[in-house]
Amino acid sequence: MKLPVAELHIHLEGTLEPEAILRLAAQNGVTLPWPSLEQLREQYDFSNLQSFLDLFYTNLAVLRTRADFHEITLAYLRRAEAAGVRHVELFFDPQAHLERGIGLGEVVGGIREALHEGEKRFGITHKLIACFWRHAPAASAMEILRTLIAEGHDVDGIGLDSSELGYPPALFREVFDYARDHGLHVVAHAGEEGPPEYIVQALDLLKVERIDHGIRCLEDPTLVERLVAEQMPLTVCPLSNVRLRTVDTMADHPLRQMLEAGLKVSIHSDDPAYFGGYLDANFAAVIGQFELSREEQAVLARNSIESSFLEEPAKSRLCAEVDLWLSAEGRDL
Ligand code: ADE
Ligand code: ZN
Repeated sequence: MKLPVAELHIHLEGTLEPEAILRLAAQNGVTLPWPSLEQLREQYDFSNLQSFLDLFYTNLAVLRTRADFHEITLAYLRRAEAAGVRHVELFFDPQAHLERGIGLGEVVGGIREALHEGEKRFGITHKLIACFWRHAPAASAMEILRTLIAEGHDVDGIGLDSSELGYPPALFREVFDYARDHGLHVVAHAGEEGPPEYIVQALDLLKVERIDHGIRCLEDPTLVERLVAEQMPLTVCPLSNVRLRTVDTMADHPLRQMLEAGLKVSIHSDDPAYFGGYLDANFAAVIGQFELSREEQAVLARNSIESSFLEEPAKSRLCAEVDLWLSAEGRDL
């Protein structure tokens, strides 16, 4: 039996594997600056978040049609099932596709169709979250959000991603007010590269329900106390943090400190095709590094389920499966 988990921090565009990038480029007549797999792979050496984002956004040129979005979503779900994912809350970046002339209907429609198909084939339930770019003006996010709602595109929430430093959450206050007023869930990347103050702003001004990353909270003990008291979910992505040099090595990752502080941490994969692995690889990395007991692994899995936007009784059902996994120690169910 695999440990059942909810994947809450995963960018669809970050699941685009190098082989798929080159295949889609050929299929769609797109020329990339790195025509061979070898040349493409050489680009995957990052010095910080921005160096990754530059490659990530360039590679998106290969996504052109509704069928492309359908295909990459289904490919992700197939891989996620193997990693034990039972529920996914999938991020996508609408601005990345709109600026290339692809309609919201094609993007959201292609992804949603695949999510429904994946639910039937792999039993993975789903939510879909549109993430706005913090490096773009808030007016752009607002216009797209209004369109998403006015045209009835099927999204469950909004998030905030892309370059963090210099783009504080405060810039997006009205966007998040509008989203909450229209019944959407709200999350935001904060405290990945940015200071603890950005986490405070995401909580106070954007009134988010989860913080994506949040690892820099440890620099501010008052903030840690608050996050613990509120049991605010933090979706931590260990392989991403190492590959983007937010931490030097896995041994320097603050996961154990976060757990010991009583923070509601869960483990996720961010952009698995870029950072060396899906959810199972992220779990394996921290289990190996921090010698996590099965009970600790179960805590991380339960946190992911409880931090999701699933309703009851789905949450309790999945948590019961985690208990079953824990009680099945050493035995194959
Ligand atoms: N977009 C995709 N991955 C991201 C990350 N780790 N941080 C911010 N924006 C992103
Ligand atoms: Zn992310």
